[in-house]
Amino acid sequence: MKTLIIYYSRTGTTKKVAEILKQKLNCDIEEIIDIKDRKGPIGYITGGRDAMKEILTEIKPIEKNPVDYDLVIIGTPDWASNMTPAVRTYITNQKDKLKKVAFLVTYGGSGLEKTFKRMGDLVGTQPTATLGLKTVEVTKDQAEEKINQFITQL
Ligand SMILES: Cc1cc2nc3c(=O)[nH]c(=O)nc-3n(C[C@H](O)[C@H](O)[C@H](O)COP(=O)(O)O)c2cc1C
Repeated sequence: MKTLIIYYSRTGTTKKVAEILKQKLNCDIEEIIDIKDRKGPIGYITGGRDAMKEILTEIKPIEKNPVDYDLVIIGTPDWASNMTPAVRTYITNQKDKLKKVAFLVTYGGSGLEKTFKRMGDLVGTQPTATLGLKTVEVTKDQAEEKINQFITQL
């Protein structure tokens, strides 16, 4: 099964999991880059607001065409119990080309299920598998078991 991992990460947590998945699945990977500056406290506040209001953003052109893949794993941090504007923009632009999807969400401690639901609703299909990991599980390398379980469901 040809698989692509596409993800956004502001502070590296989601990126770390995406890279682990890439190694384990031996598949293609692409990072979504938000043109809007999301750094620092201002970036945090405006990012949370944009996510809550479900505002789209401008992202760098995507190189990999999702239509070339049987499965696309979409990764995002949870922002205000929602996907990030960058991932919302990606899904909005590409949803007609997505066949089978799976979701990866990293989060501080709440809002995970809402985020999965919102992503599924936006794609228009429910995911084959979901992987939700708390930031601390990722930073302390305690995510191995959940990652392996996720892979068996793909
Ligand atoms: C703007 C913003 C809003 C957030 N909102 C939530 C939230 O509603 N619930 C939650 O559990 N974590 C929330 N977080 C924490 C992130 O989801 C968490 O730290 C995530 O692992 C960061 O991923 P990253 O390092 O890939 O950017 C928020 C973080 C940011 C920057």
